[in-house]
Amino acid sequence: MTIQNITLPQPDDWHLHLRDDSALNTTVPDSARYFKRAIIMPNLQPPVTTTEQALAYRQRILQARPVGSYFQPLMTLYLTDNTSEDEIQRAYDSQHIYAVKLYPAGATTNSAAGVTDLTHCTEALARMSQLGMPLLVHGEVTDPKIDIFDREKVFIDQILQPLIARLPDLKIVFEHATTRDAVDFVRESSHPIAATITPHHLLLNRNDLLVGGIHPHHYCLPVLKRNTHQQALIEAATSGDPKFFLGTDSAPHAQHSKESGCGCAGIYSSHAAIELYAEVFDAAGALDKLTGFASHFGADFYGLPRNTRQLTLSKQDWQVPDRIDFSGQPLIPMRAGEIISWQVANLSD
Ligand code: NCD
Ligand code: ZN
Repeated sequence: MTIQNITLPQPDDWHLHLRDDSALNTTVPDSARYFKRAIIMPNLQPPVTTTEQALAYRQRILQARPVGSYFQPLMTLYLTDNTSEDEIQRAYDSQHIYAVKLYPAGATTNSAAGVTDLTHCTEALARMSQLGMPLLVHGEVTDPKIDIFDREKVFIDQILQPLIARLPDLKIVFEHATTRDAVDFVRESSHPIAATITPHHLLLNRNDLLVGGIHPHHYCLPVLKRNTHQQALIEAATSGDPKFFLGTDSAPHAQHSKESGCGCAGIYSSHAAIELYAEVFDAAGALDKLTGFASHFGADFYGLPRNTRQLTLSKQDWQVPDRIDFSGQPLIPMRAGEIISWQVANLSD
């Protein structure tokens, strides 16, 4: 008999872009519908590089929560060549900043201020290692000579392996893993390393970006890979291995900035995230593994308590809107106008 319902503890999103100001009126309610907590990415303009900025941003997010919402933003700092160990300590002491994000300079949206060379960050990383504060890595090199489809693998060989060798205790999250190379590395490593996996890298591959014309709303970074990598991600996510957990990388951009001669990277999924993951796990015959991936393993890795409210999903079609209002501009969400086969039936008090 096919499973029609599944109940799991309330999930968390361990990789989320909320943007700022009036955009929060769309992004925060969408994420707060079903997620209890989210790791908030710091790639604003200007980036969130100080504890003071992160705490002010946290207040703006809290103010955008719907009435009665318990949603908790878990803040991060944006690592730069100049991040001091004192700043890391201040962030840790604030009790609201849970991690630090490494964007190799130029790797993705709003990453110009990112790290040019990790040797500039030796003190900051050593302090994070001492404090048990995770480093969240955008795992792609930016060398223009390296093919975009190989940038994740080259990052593992050239940046990640030496980093792990230098700092054997530094907790690391390999964000939005997109290749078999990344999931194999994370699975086999004896280092304290885990990986987030997005709904779009589980549901799409590069054909969805390029066959029949260019699909700008499927353009994200790291770019969608071939279907054999997609298969490796599905296997990892549905394997029950606690090193793999939910991180949507929901990254909103207005329609006009994606449908452009130089469209920007990012896919918006917060309007339907847990429902999309349920589809993936259902299709893989692994709905029993969704609880660990969505509700347990991320909290365990970050050393935070698991959530206690219960979320029930049921297998029932619903249609995604064609567009969403994003600061007064249209935004095309993932699966716009299409059917999703799972929906949330209940979230307990
Ligand atoms: C993200 C964004 O738009 O902020 N874009 C994306 O394609 N994922 C940045 C990022 O996470 O790389
Ligand atoms: Zn991201």
